[in-house]
This record gives sequence, structure tokens and C-alpha cells, in this order.
Amino acid sequence: METPLTAKIRPDGEMIDLAAYERAGGYQAARKAMQMSAAEITDQVKKSGLRGRGGAGFPTGQKWSFVPSGPDAPRPKYLVANGDEMEPGTFKDRVLLEGDPHELIEGMIIAARAIDADRGYVFLRGEYTDAGERIERALHEAASKGYLGKNIFGSGTDFDLRLHMSGGRYMCGEETGLLNALEGKRANPRAKPPFPQVSGLFGKPTIVQNIETLCNIPHIVEKGPEWFQKLSLTGDAGTKLYGASGKVKKPGSQASRHRTNNVSSGRRTRPAARAGAGRGSGRASSLIASNAS
Ligand SMILES: Cc1cc2nc3c(=O)[nH]c(=O)nc-3n(C[C@H](O)[C@H](O)[C@H](O)COP(=O)(O)O)c2cc1C
Repeated sequence: METPLTAKIRPDGEMIDLAAYERAGGYQAARKAMQMSAAEITDQVKKSGLRGRGGAGFPTGQKWSFVPSGPDAPRPKYLVANGDEMEPGTFKDRVLLEGDPHELIEGMIIAARAIDADRGYVFLRGEYTDAGERIERALHEAASKGYLGKNIFGSGTDFDLRLHMSGGRYMCGEETGLLNALEGKRANPRAKPPFPQVSGLFGKPTIVQNIETLCNIPHIVEKGPEWFQKLSLTGDAGTKLYGASGKVKKPGSQASRHRTNNVSSGRRTRPAARAGAGRGSGRASSLIASNAS
């Protein structure tokens, strides 16, 4: 089976750098997206059936379509990647963040074009220091090639993307609490409406999206919505990353097709014992990827 989300992750646990990511086809989807209109990208994501991977499962393309567009839309608009992941025992986003940060950045570049975002933040769990270092490195690599900052890919549009390390509260994972935290306030959730798509960070239109959700975007743009739907064995499109930790024989993260009775044939990607699945300790090099049979 295809497991696009983890396909580029190196088996030795090191981060895939920009050169290797591009040799493996990375940033081709972003280049393609620069030739597409915002509406076309959103339409592709809607057709793909992608739903948010942060818990609520809201249709991603539909969420993007709530963001005000056109010349009268409030500015700046924001895109925020939710990498808080403080739920005990969870670490599926960490696998992506440490192993393939360029996949996230490329997904954010495409999503930013779809909602015409000016600025983006990766909101990261405070203990994910290895992931933080790798994201910083990847941001620097991408900016130095002109994929971030002013006039990205020569498209005439700008997208500024920064890393924010969380101060560390479970409530920061909830999107409106996260926005308060990003503003430097206590991470109390906000009443909705207004929804962040209309009035989010600093009162401006904002999309908050889970890491795994965003990492799917380059693959959808590259290979198309029908391909993405067929990855799944159920009505829910794409693959899903699962984590197994605690008293289990094989702790780790597993990419699987959506199905109800069997998650054993995906690609397994696990933090080594020292990493303690879901905890922030452990060197980034402890990520081990293996191809399951
Ligand atoms: C208490 C609480 C904690 C949450 N923690 C996270 C989290 O760590 N990561 C995440 O992506 N979403 C988390 N969410 C869900 C977010 O509020 C939001 O729905 C999600 O980031 C949207 O992204 P998605 O549409 O891609 O799933 C949490 C929600 C609640 C209520």
C-alpha cells in the first residue's frame, strides 16, 4: 500500500534535508499550486474528501472556503499549524515534524495560497525541542531558496512562516486557546462564533490546521483527489497515522488505510525506546522508520 505521509522519512532517524526532499519530488506540488488559483486548490482539497486529523474531522477544503477573500478581505490573514500534541500517548505529528519538516512547510505554502494567507506559524509543543530545531533548519533552507518570504517561487505573492514554541498547556491544543497563547495571553478558549476563519489571530481571518492534515496537502495537489480517495478502504479518504505506546509489543506510529479491522500492513515509524512515545525527551535521531511487510 502507498503511505505518502511517511514515504520520505529516512530510516536512520535523521531529518530529510531540502536537497534530498527535492530529489524525492518535494516542492513540485508547491510549484504546481503556484500555477493554480486559490479556488482551484480549495476545490481539489474539497474533492479529495480530506478531513482534519486533529480530532474533530471537519472537511478541510470547506473550512478554507469560509475565509473571506477578495480585495476587501481583512489583512493580514493567518495560517497556523497546530503541533501542540499534548494528549498523553500521542506522537503521530511528532513523527512527521521530526522526520519530514519540509512536507509540512510545503503543505503550508499550498494552504496559504488557497486562503491567500500573508503569515503563518507552526505552533509547537514546548517539549518538542528536536522537532523545533529541525523545523527552524527547514524554514531556513526553504527561505534561502525563495520558497518562503517575499515573492515565493517568483509568484508575486509573499508568505512569511515562523516557528512558535508553546509555553506548555494542554488547552493550547484547542484552536482558540492556541490563538490566545500565540497572542501572548492565557490559553483560555474563546466563545464561538465568531469562528477563527473570520476572526482569529489578532481578530483577523485565520485557519488552524493539524500537522498531519497539512502534510496531506502536497500529495493531494500532486496526485489528485481521486488518488487520495482511493488510498482509503472506507468513505474517509487518505491514510491515517496511528500511534501505539504503553504495554504493546511494537510501540510506534503506523500509517494505515482507513479501515475498521486491520492496521497491520502500513509503514511503521517509531521513536526508539529512549524517546518515550509522546514525550518530548529523546534525540530527534531516535526516529526509526521501517517498511512493514
Ligand atoms: C482540549 C483540546 C485539545 C486539542 N489539542 C489538539 C492538538 O494537540 N492538535 C490538534 O491538531 N488539534 C487539537 N485539538 C483540536 C483543535 O481545536 C482543532 O480542531 C484542530 O487543530 C483543527 O485542525 P484540523 O481541522 O486539521 O483537525 C484540540 C481540541 C481540544 C478541545
